[in-house]
Amino acid sequence: MNLNRIRADFPILDEIIYMDSASTSLTPEPVLDAVMDYYRRYNANVGRGVHRLSQIASGMYEGAHRKVAEFIGAREGVLVFTKNTTEGINTVASGLGWQKGDRVITTVLEHHSNLLPWLRLREKGVEVEIMKPDGEGILDPADFETAITDKTRLVAITHASNVIGTIQPVREISKICKEKGVLILLDGAQSVPHIRIDVKDLEVDFLCFSGHKMLGPTGTGVLWMRDPQIEPLFLGGGMIKEVTLKSYEYAEGYERFEAGTPHIAGGIGLGRACDYLKEIGMDELRMHEERLTERLIEGLLEIEGVEVYGTLDPKKRLGVVSFNIRGVHPHDLAHILDDSSNIMVRSGHHCASPLIKYLGIEEGTVRASLYLYNTEEEVELLLTTLEGIARVMV
Ligand code: ALA
Repeated sequence: MNLNRIRADFPILDEIIYMDSASTSLTPEPVLDAVMDYYRRYNANVGRGVHRLSQIASGMYEGAHRKVAEFIGAREGVLVFTKNTTEGINTVASGLGWQKGDRVITTVLEHHSNLLPWLRLREKGVEVEIMKPDGEGILDPADFETAITDKTRLVAITHASNVIGTIQPVREISKICKEKGVLILLDGAQSVPHIRIDVKDLEVDFLCFSGHKMLGPTGTGVLWMRDPQIEPLFLGGGMIKEVTLKSYEYAEGYERFEAGTPHIAGGIGLGRACDYLKEIGMDELRMHEERLTERLIEGLLEIEGVEVYGTLDPKKRLGVVSFNIRGVHPHDLAHILDDSSNIMVRSGHHCASPLIKYLGIEEGTVRASLYLYNTEEEVELLLTTLEGIARVMV
């Protein structure tokens, strides 16, 4: 992996150290070019016109769906562009058609977006069961074996925690779901940008993720469905085969779930982001991040008064590292890191309040999240800055 070449694609890195990629990643020049090319050279609506520009835009937009499908190993099913992971999960939650007494299993590790859409189903008489992880922040598949009953319709879990970075045993859990005839939805918002994903291998039924966390534009996301037999969330233009005043028939394929003019430039940009990541190689990228994560955790543990959350084993986690310095509010620490060393991290509850409470942390955490463009020097600077702060404050 040629880090200098990669970093040249992110000119913003000349000024700052960006360690908030779990929130949203930076966007490389080739992705920006792909977005601008659409607006400059073939700006037209998709799936609607017969003129030349519309044909070019439609071809590029469809091609972007194919690229993203290939990126996650999806040779079957339907891949829909959404605006983010949240939209994908809500589409499934509202589209499945629930009966009173149905059960959903989710976990305390979830981001609010993979929790609230299920909790709301309680209003329809759906029971929601919440699984807990072990001391390292990892779920035990055996707990799912026990929890699934003949009323359970869906298991909805994160692939990797957005707070503590722990990677979950998805294959083992999906195998149990398959044996018991239960659907499984995977929140891949954190994992898809960092680990090579193959939906066939993972054997999940739904995979939701965000384009803006994997070098794509904001306002882009994906819902992949093995079997798209759910009701679309939005109805309108572009998603029908036929309409009369008495009836309507939905279109086939992704169009059924993409009512209205989509984020065309965004989708094309996301396709380009997948090409970019593929060119670098997801295994290379993972190795680089694992190395940085190992050093970051090792360095953090050497600092007096620092607590790190989740497993310390870099093989079982992503480079999403939550920590605290005893007695220092996470927001204060994030401010100091920015003011003193130009380091951008996220602080607080990370849209996962139940998990923060479960971990017994009142004020939340500071979270440094790494990506392909981070360097060892940046990790060392973070550690030295934290050492200095801890010396004064602890
Ligand atoms: N889901 C994003 C995060 O965890 C916003 O920061």
